Amino acid sequence: MRHTLLLMMLAVATLQGHSQEKVIYDFEGYEIGDRLPMNDLYSDKTESVAEVTADPTNPQNKVLHVTNKSWNTLIELAIGHITQGNITESYRMLAFDLYRPASDANYKQFVARLGQDTIYADAGFYDQGQAETWVAKSYIMERTDEASDKIYMGFNSVDAEYYVDNIRLIAADYGYDFTDEQQTLRYHAAKAGKNIGVAVPVSRININDESLLPTQTVFRNFNMIVAENEMKPDALQPNRGEFNFYHGDCIVDFAARHDMEVRGHTLVWHKQVPAWISSDGIKNDHGYSRDELLQIMKDHITAVVSHYKGKVSEWDVVNECLDDDQTTIRTNPLSYDLRPSVWQNVIGEDYIDSAFVYAHRADPDAQLYINDYGVEFQGKAKTQAYYNLVRRLVNDGIPVGGVGFQCHLTVGDTDSAKFDNNVKRYAPLGVECAVTELDVSMPDAYAQGAEQQQAEEYGKIASVMMNYDHCRNILVWGVTDDMSWRQGNPLIFRQTLEPKPAFFTLRDILQSAAQIADGITTPDTGATASASVDVYDLGGRPVALGLDRKDIGRLPKGIYIIDGKCTVVR
Ligand code: XIL
Repeated sequence: MRHTLLLMMLAVATLQGHSQEKVIYDFEGYEIGDRLPMNDLYSDKTESVAEVTADPTNPQNKVLHVTNKSWNTLIELAIGHITQGNITESYRMLAFDLYRPASDANYKQFVARLGQDTIYADAGFYDQGQAETWVAKSYIMERTDEASDKIYMGFNSVDAEYYVDNIRLIAADYGYDFTDEQQTLRYHAAKAGKNIGVAVPVSRININDESLLPTQTVFRNFNMIVAENEMKPDALQPNRGEFNFYHGDCIVDFAARHDMEVRGHTLVWHKQVPAWISSDGIKNDHGYSRDELLQIMKDHITAVVSHYKGKVSEWDVVNECLDDDQTTIRTNPLSYDLRPSVWQNVIGEDYIDSAFVYAHRADPDAQLYINDYGVEFQGKAKTQAYYNLVRRLVNDGIPVGGVGFQCHLTVGDTDSAKFDNNVKRYAPLGVECAVTELDVSMPDAYAQGAEQQQAEEYGKIASVMMNYDHCRNILVWGVTDDMSWRQGNPLIFRQTLEPKPAFFTLRDILQSAAQIADGITTPDTGATASASVDVYDLGGRPVALGLDRKDIGRLPKGIYIIDGKCTVVR
């Protein structure tokens, strides 16, 4: 029996998909009803068995059904025939598909053991996946010299019940090694004076367990983080006056441990509004008066921004306030139309002004952003409306410090010149521009060359951002394709955490920007250069006139215009 099983397993030990991924068990070579031993983590005693059954979502597919009868019981999988003993020599990750049936049981921990070493543990509660859906899981493996012909894995909870399939080993060769910091995105971003950021959902990435591959991918590559959902009003104030900062705090603490900046998202929006304010973000179902709603907005902003004062460096204060229909701009080129929302309907346009003022009072050092989508490329009515609104706010002295372009794009959308023309006209208004939620969906994700096109699209957006000193931040909206809120594999990492071409394009662009930044920090000491220089800030205001050239390096850190050129002083 054992012998035939081994042969069958050998048959499935094929290289699949990317060459570094090896499926060691897909259970297709088994019969329904075949059983695998389950051993105790500590005593190695066989406690029970797991059974091969039909996939609950697809009867054609065979999977392993596991029911834990005792704590610390793990399935035992023979691997010696595949790994020739030393599993970690060439493999760095264990991955598998996991299906959790509808049940109240929470898995307490994921454990895998190789030889005498427990190679990783603690799945946390975030790693269980949605009930009744298959989710892909991957765990990084510590290197061990221990030779073993078995791997043990499971979720240790007395009542855990789950299905596993496609258990695979993933090789170390990802085309980059994030343990070498020079191969990461943030290394080059920092040198270029930029932030490369990522939206993280704590429901999908357990940022409290720093041994996990997804977690490591985040902190090793990014120097900025934004909560995908955890700092939205419905998350932070689910009931009036009742704040829940737990998940937001986890993100802020994680960022502090890894020297990342935190972007706050978002204070006022027509979506993800708690039901006690509005059932749909538009209706005023609770009949609030203008004054009451202003007070509610003020209380929320004040509590949240104060809580994160000094920890969150910038906030999306008002999100997506523009209407998608901006046709009035054709007759009035200075106009903009706001979207109906409970805020707009009850308070009126100055909810925007007030929101910025409240946020500014709560943390005068935070950079305050407006943020929207469909406003990236010059020539579109909404793009013009956005500019008109920002200019109006700036002219009225509202403390708007930044303009966010979400950049939820589809391959083919990006026109570099139109993006460039748009971004550069904000500099004279004295506001920063940021790419806040970049993702580029591929309509046909598996078509030949699709990922290359996607990479180019990422590159076009990033290149424009590199050209301007009023553009500091680029954030991608999610880590891996399978976690994205959009279809079409729009992100820079595969589900396996392998970087896609877009990752390498982004890294190349950051690296060249870093080299250029390096170049221009070297003061010009050519024979024709005068001994003294006039130094201006980016707005053209004099900073130091007649400064001795050799003292340029002593200026406070920042970006200056010296000899008509942008100069970075670090
Ligand atoms: C999205 C999240 O990614 C989803 O997980 C959530 O279900 C809905 O919101 N514009 C924004 C983001 O400003 O907050 C949105 O995030 C995506 C569009």
